Amino acid sequence: MMILAFPDYLSQAQHLAARLYAPLAEVTVHHFPDSESLIRLPPSLPEHVIVCRSLNQPNDKLIELLLCATTARELGAKRLTLVAPYLSYMRQDIANHPGEAVSQRIIGKMLAGLFDDVITVDPHLHRISSLDQAIPIKNAISLTAADEIGRFLKQTLDYAVLLGPDSESEQWVANIANKIGFDYAIAHKDRLGDKQVKITLPDYDYRNKPVVIIDDVASTGRTLAQAAKLLQAAGSKDIYAVVTHALFCNDAEAHILKAGIKAIWSTDSIDHPTSCIKLDTLLADAIKAII
Ligand code: R5P
Repeated sequence: MMILAFPDYLSQAQHLAARLYAPLAEVTVHHFPDSESLIRLPPSLPEHVIVCRSLNQPNDKLIELLLCATTARELGAKRLTLVAPYLSYMRQDIANHPGEAVSQRIIGKMLAGLFDDVITVDPHLHRISSLDQAIPIKNAISLTAADEIGRFLKQTLDYAVLLGPDSESEQWVANIANKIGFDYAIAHKDRLGDKQVKITLPDYDYRNKPVVIIDDVASTGRTLAQAAKLLQAAGSKDIYAVVTHALFCNDAEAHILKAGIKAIWSTDSIDHPTSCIKLDTLLADAIKAII
């Protein structure tokens, strides 16, 4: 077995390789002036290759994954496992307007054609209940960072109310709250546009209480910022945020901090200054379970 790491996921892959006592090689990626990518792999590969890369900013990365997986097969890999802690294109699971691409199904099918196993963490599955409905292979494995996040919160705070900013977040927030014995509440969210959300807080006495807003993804940061503003108005003491995937597009982080959030924490599914919650043990255990 060998871990093949793309440069943007190298340090996390090194931790994973150390946990698995597996050799690691880096995929060399060259970008030509016209934006085409050239991929180079070690010319000799073992039978089982584990390709590691999170799929944030996905468009180039998906093409590079196609080049990588196809080349790995040509070089003799019999079993290809993708470890993509952040899996993009999972949110568009229906055509909201006639003619729209159902990206989840299309990208899922592409990954199923390239890999024997796909392992990810807290994918945004809304209307489907299991990852293999999006990626039709036997080992489409959806892990959750709930234990890692719960442990981190328990070590960091004596007590806090956990707030899920929308109904979809309840699956993660309830799980974490139940594990560490904190209270939780779930807000209602209407998305009005890419950078516009309307949140309604549930009835709860937030006065003088620390609150941690928990979500799977922070993209524009508008969800976290809007929730924080409402919590401040409701008298919360300190407001924090934890996300599994720190996408933080453009001004997202500044926007969140300006809204009064004292600290943001995330997992290392994506390399970011907030990524203090490590996923290597979770991922290594999942790989051990399928080999
Ligand atoms: C969607 O419903 C997700 O769970 C997140 O709440 C959402 O992606 C966050 O997006 P943004 O940071 O752009 O508000």
